[in-house]
Amino acid sequence: MSKTINWGIIGIGKIAEKFASDLATVENAKLVAVASRSIDRAKEFGGRHDSTFAYGSYEEIFNTPDLDAIYIATPHTSHAECTKLCLNKGVAVLCEKPFAMNEQEVKEMIHLAEEKQTFLMEALWTRFLPSTKKVLEIIDSKALGDIKLLQADFGFIPPFFPERRVLNPEYGGGAFLDIGIYPAFLSLLILGYPSTILATSTKGPTGVDETTAFLYQYGNNNIAKLSCTFGAETNTEATIFGTEGRIVMKKRFHDTKEIELIPNEGEPQVFNFPRETFGYNHEIEEVNDCLRKGKTSSDLWPLSQSLKLIQLLDKTREEAGIVYKTDKS
Ligand SMILES: NC(=O)c1ccc[n+]([C@@H]2O[C@H](COP(=O)([O-])OP(=O)(O)OC[C@H]3O[C@@H](n4cnc5c(N)ncnc54)[C@H](OP(=O)(O)O)[C@@H]3O)[C@@H](O)[C@H]2O)c1
Repeated sequence: MSKTINWGIIGIGKIAEKFASDLATVENAKLVAVASRSIDRAKEFGGRHDSTFAYGSYEEIFNTPDLDAIYIATPHTSHAECTKLCLNKGVAVLCEKPFAMNEQEVKEMIHLAEEKQTFLMEALWTRFLPSTKKVLEIIDSKALGDIKLLQADFGFIPPFFPERRVLNPEYGGGAFLDIGIYPAFLSLLILGYPSTILATSTKGPTGVDETTAFLYQYGNNNIAKLSCTFGAETNTEATIFGTEGRIVMKKRFHDTKEIELIPNEGEPQVFNFPRETFGYNHEIEEVNDCLRKGKTSSDLWPLSQSLKLIQLLDKTREEAGIVYKTDKS
């Protein structure tokens, strides 16, 4: 039988709730500790999710015996600090996206993981979903011919709570880092790092980017036309166009349950990916598998790709004029 992987969670907000619920569906894995800035919230969350330990500070989580991995689900601005806290204690880390606020922070995280020989991975859950794997398989089969254009958008209107992380510049708020990361990630996964980056952005009432459009070109080969917005409900689809046909990843493309392959000639094919979880179980299984094999990073979403992604995000932000206090440190 596989070794049971004992998980802890730091920061128990909205996404931690879904993660904990999906963790409960993964075989040979258990939530053993939750850490919050509030002991009452930790006890309440821990009780609901059957966690063995609940702590009222992040540092206390390291008192947990046999803790294998920690999932970091705090606002973007504290990802680097929380990750380094765990790595310095030699505990494996799965850290939410964006991995950190900028390239400098991500480099520090990666260097520390290498120095401590400790597992580190960005929680880019889309990479591990069966739908994403199928898209890559179709592209590899050359069913699309040569890819010429990738189009993806992500847009919705979040509730207006200026003090919360989503719209608050102090916490790295704004559409681009929160949801624009998904089109950027898809372009990097499929087309690689662009040779040309163009971007432009509008600002919302709290000063964070509301709508950002970004265009990437890859030599003379292909182009990605991408956007994100907190100002409107958009299709939130991705389409990859090739010389022989196209693939549509249906709404919301980043965790889609349906993709359609539409060849220029012949019948379209629909692929369905039904699931009973939110979909975070796949990234959890990847971490568990890596830890059982004694690996310090994932081959599916390696640290080199996380570094390229943050470089892409930084460069796009620079073009679009999206600036945070953390950029100046
Ligand atoms: N993969 C995905 O699908 C997905 C989806 C949503 C969000 N995310 C990412 O996950 C991270 C958390 O997002 P979320 O929506 O869960 O946020 P959230 O609901 O605001 O929760 C964040 C948690 O972080 C902790 N925290 C630590 N310092 C904080 C501070 N100064 N202000 C507020 N909270 C602080 C809080 O937990 P305690 O009070 O317990 O310490 C809070 O509950 C973000 O980086 C986001 O990009 C990923």
